[in-house]
Amino acid sequence: MPTRAGIGLRLPHITEIVATRPRVGWLEVHPENFLANPHAMELLLELSGDYLISVHTVGVSIGSASGIDRNHLKRIRSFVDRLDPFLVSGHLAWSTHHNEYLNDLLPLPFNGEVLELVTDHVHEVQDALRRQYLVENPSSYVAFQASTMTEAEFLGELVTRTGCALLCDVSNIYLSAHNMAYDARSYLDSLPGDAIGEFHLGGFTPEHDESDPGGAVWIDTHAAAVADGAWELYGYAIRRFGARPALIEWDNDIPPLATLLQQAARADEIAADIPALETSCARAC
Ligand SMILES: [Fe+2]
Repeated sequence: MPTRAGIGLRLPHITEIVATRPRVGWLEVHPENFLANPHAMELLLELSGDYLISVHTVGVSIGSASGIDRNHLKRIRSFVDRLDPFLVSGHLAWSTHHNEYLNDLLPLPFNGEVLELVTDHVHEVQDALRRQYLVENPSSYVAFQASTMTEAEFLGELVTRTGCALLCDVSNIYLSAHNMAYDARSYLDSLPGDAIGEFHLGGFTPEHDESDPGGAVWIDTHAAAVADGAWELYGYAIRRFGARPALIEWDNDIPPLATLLQQAARADEIAADIPALETSCARAC
């Protein structure tokens, strides 16, 4: 397992990373960016000799009522087999319906019926990939009247039923707590900490909230630096659960590579500032 934070490997940085081999803990890739790009795949395979790689799927769509696209899953499996990543993850969301791919991660109600559907799909993914899958908590903007459990309860039950792990996106919790008016630390407290296998950190963009004059809705754009409040929440998460591989995500308005490396260094500083005793106590308690 890496001891330093990683960064999302995006295509505009790939040749610079191949040429300069920056000191960063690990790299996370979206397989969908490489499947139809043999040159980028070649460079990624070269990098996998020097860096731990994590595969973060964006098109597997475990929340789709119409089922998982098995052809896409086969492509992901052969991608994973070639790279042998140390983690494979995806979102608690839906982004496909039958053959239609929607360029978004859409929300789900949290109830027994959806839990059964998602449980079946996580089993299908883990069976196909022959490894544990990490499921990421979503960024939230709406709640459903059809929900009968909280998001954290839903994720906890999913872990119990499937043996999957959790990708805890701290910035998603920070953003969702603002948008949905709940307490971010209480949300973290209610997650099954032992199941968390990775942390994500990314930036958001505030937009005018038409339903609340003077208010703002925070959009999970991954187009900015990590907010101070999200860094603070990250420190809380480490104190609560112990350190895990942490990743800086930046997908839009992509800055120079140096900016991403600075963000990863900040994650390392926060982790280093948490006393070891406190960390081991949080794991054991
Ligand atoms: Fe994320």
